[in-house]
Amino acid sequence: MITLGIEGTAHTLGVGVVDSDRKVIANVIDMFMPPEGGLHPREAANHHSDVVASAIGRAAEEAGITLKDINLVSFSMGPGLGPCLRVAATAARALSSRLNIPIMGVNHCIAHIEIGNATTGCDDPALLYASGGNTQVIAYSEGRYRIFGETQDIGIGNMLDKLGRELGLGFYAGPAIEKLAKEGDRLLNLPYSVKGMDVAFSGIMTAALALKKKGYRPEDIAYSVQETAFSMLTEVTERAMAHIGKSEVLLGGGVAQNLRLQEMVRIMAEDRGAKMFVPDRKLCADNGAMIAWLGNIMYNSGIRMSIGDTAVRQRFRTDEVEAVWR
Ligand code: ATP
Ligand code: FE2
Repeated sequence: MITLGIEGTAHTLGVGVVDSDRKVIANVIDMFMPPEGGLHPREAANHHSDVVASAIGRAAEEAGITLKDINLVSFSMGPGLGPCLRVAATAARALSSRLNIPIMGVNHCIAHIEIGNATTGCDDPALLYASGGNTQVIAYSEGRYRIFGETQDIGIGNMLDKLGRELGLGFYAGPAIEKLAKEGDRLLNLPYSVKGMDVAFSGIMTAALALKKKGYRPEDIAYSVQETAFSMLTEVTERAMAHIGKSEVLLGGGVAQNLRLQEMVRIMAEDRGAKMFVPDRKLCADNGAMIAWLGNIMYNSGIRMSIGDTAVRQRFRTDEVEAVWR
């Protein structure tokens, strides 16, 4: 069974293909880079509708198939930005009716977990999902993927991107902040905001911007922001692992590519006799392959959807889905 998956929750329009052996045979990623300022949902959606048809074509070519070979189409149903979600859903509906094949709307966060589980070989992890818009600790418990901790304000990636903009690092600043932080060596005081299993990042951003105005070195600011924010994430991940008794931790989301974050989580895991898993770079960030993957698993577990069930859900929570395939 060949599944084509379309991702479109935020910046990225992705199209991936998974074959009958559940192997990823195509993963085309086309990211919207706003010329300046932050992400405007409407502009990102316009980008997605401009590129979605060609991305589908490129994915088919990469996979060495024609559209007629596709047996199932899946798409990111949520959570995400409404206009972006609607582009992916519309493209999936069009393929489904044109090719007369079944359609499956999937939860984007669960897709991150399932592709991570399958490609890293972990079995029952706590997932630290750290991306632009999302920051959550998720794990499977009693039939569902449940959220054990999350950000109470903005996603960690959005915080890094906003800070990066102020520091003149351009958009999508995570990698630039990581590089800059390596040159920093002075730990500046920033609000460490952990409440139970939840975290908050907007205070760090405000404080970091104030430090910049006072003339502190950008290198030290970047270093301190990473040390503080990543320690918070590591702490809540550890607490969740202890609480639900998991001995594996899986990273996911664009920020999980950060080597300092990986190092901190690895040390925490090893200290508790647990193991850390990190998916391949292209499968960490938003991508279509993970959407195809989850669509395939859901279909094979007997779940069916009709076009009428495919309305997008901006606030689609992981624990709304019954994970019957597990
Ligand atoms: P969503 O929130 O819907 O998952 P997203 O558009 O934020 O979507 P991702 O590709 O998962 O998608 O993550 C992008 C974020 O990851 C950006 O905020 C970017 O700055 C951040 N990022 C990427 N590489 C790094 C890095 N090396 N260190 C820190 N942050 C990074
Ligand atoms: Fe994501």
